[in-house]
Amino acid sequence: MPNSTQSPYLLLANIGQLLTLRGANVPRRGRDLQEIGLIKDAAVLCGGGKILAAGPQRELLRDPWLRTNRKKVQELDCRGQVVIPGLIDCHTHPVFAEPRLVDFERRIGGAGYEEIAAAGGGIRSSVAAVRKSSRGELSKKVLAALNAMLEQGTSVVEAKSGYGLSVEDEIKSLQAIRDAARQWPGEVVPTLLAAHVVPQEYGGKADEYVKKVCEEMIPLVAKKKLAQYVDVFCDRGAFTQEQSEKVLAAGRKHGLGTRAHVCQFTAAKLKPLLEHQPASFDHMDCVQPEDVSLLARGETVAVLLPGANYFLGHKDFPDARRLIDAGVPLALATDYNPGTSPTPSMPFVMSLACTHMKMTPAEAIAASTINAACALRMQDRKGSLEAGKDADMAIFDVKDYREIAYWFAWDRCAEMVVAGKLMGLGKR
Ligand code: NIG
Ligand code: FE
Repeated sequence: MPNSTQSPYLLLANIGQLLTLRGANVPRRGRDLQEIGLIKDAAVLCGGGKILAAGPQRELLRDPWLRTNRKKVQELDCRGQVVIPGLIDCHTHPVFAEPRLVDFERRIGGAGYEEIAAAGGGIRSSVAAVRKSSRGELSKKVLAALNAMLEQGTSVVEAKSGYGLSVEDEIKSLQAIRDAARQWPGEVVPTLLAAHVVPQEYGGKADEYVKKVCEEMIPLVAKKKLAQYVDVFCDRGAFTQEQSEKVLAAGRKHGLGTRAHVCQFTAAKLKPLLEHQPASFDHMDCVQPEDVSLLARGETVAVLLPGANYFLGHKDFPDARRLIDAGVPLALATDYNPGTSPTPSMPFVMSLACTHMKMTPAEAIAASTINAACALRMQDRKGSLEAGKDADMAIFDVKDYREIAYWFAWDRCAEMVVAGKLMGLGKR
């Protein structure tokens, strides 16, 4: 954990490969997704939590300020390791109490996700335990997940509620996120996902529940400033297109940003949802051709979640190449949750993106840094290593950046810098 006696200045020296991801603060599309701003034999100087300079070490060490103040600067010898921007996990569901082992075994026995959900498993089966848990118990679990994410290179996490499904339990879930975030060195972006599924007690009266979400939950959460975004699960077995639009419209009306789970199992019409200016559309396994060209013209980021396809045992993965080649901005995220993706590891997700979605290692890194920052609308501060941006960096114990996605399920993250402070993970 951060050492309070650290100097406000930190120099990362002897970096073998520095991936700056420098460039305009806009989502990278098409061929630009390959542009990772690689500098060999590099150094990064941080001060006051920000990047002061990042570039070739020979140039950086000539800096007059650094030459006179070198003694004031804490130094980390990276010994030829690889440094990239802190990874940004732009889609997670960390507020749950128990793993879903019954669903896991049913799927092994051949049942499908939707079939299990319809038979009483799925999202609804995580709700009772969350309702029974205290805010303190939930925040401990959220913090444990955030720490596991940090260990593997992540410094920004979007965190959704969505297993409370009542005014009280959704508020409790968002408070648990806030409590955990206060004890975590990275940054957390909270999202209200009250419209995850219709809770049991509504007996299938989805419109009634949507009314509750729009007229009670969203206004209250906005008033308490507990979330930055509102999300909705728009799919078969969850909410219809019309219901989803109502949720997003209510979010916007109350000053929240919007994002949506769409096209995981069935295609949605994205045009009407785009009216609500979503920062991201997430999953995107089955997108219609006319929607691909629509997205290529807009700013909404498609967040692909291959951890869910992997864990559900799907043969198919989102068609990243089709989206990239059409010019749709893409990001990657873990989708950390108990039902479809219980992994905190962005490097594992990047590996899946390479092996199953044919993204290159460079594309996977850009999709997990600058484009993920765009998916959270934080690209002015996060996602690349350039003077003025937040000094969030992941140091990997590899010689070549392509190894980050290559060594799958092997934790190669050696050290983290968050807001200019060394985390001291003790793994170097
Ligand atoms: O992103 N698709 C909706 N929500 C989650 C699954 C949550 C769960 O099964 O608990 C997802 O995959
Ligand atoms: Fe999700």
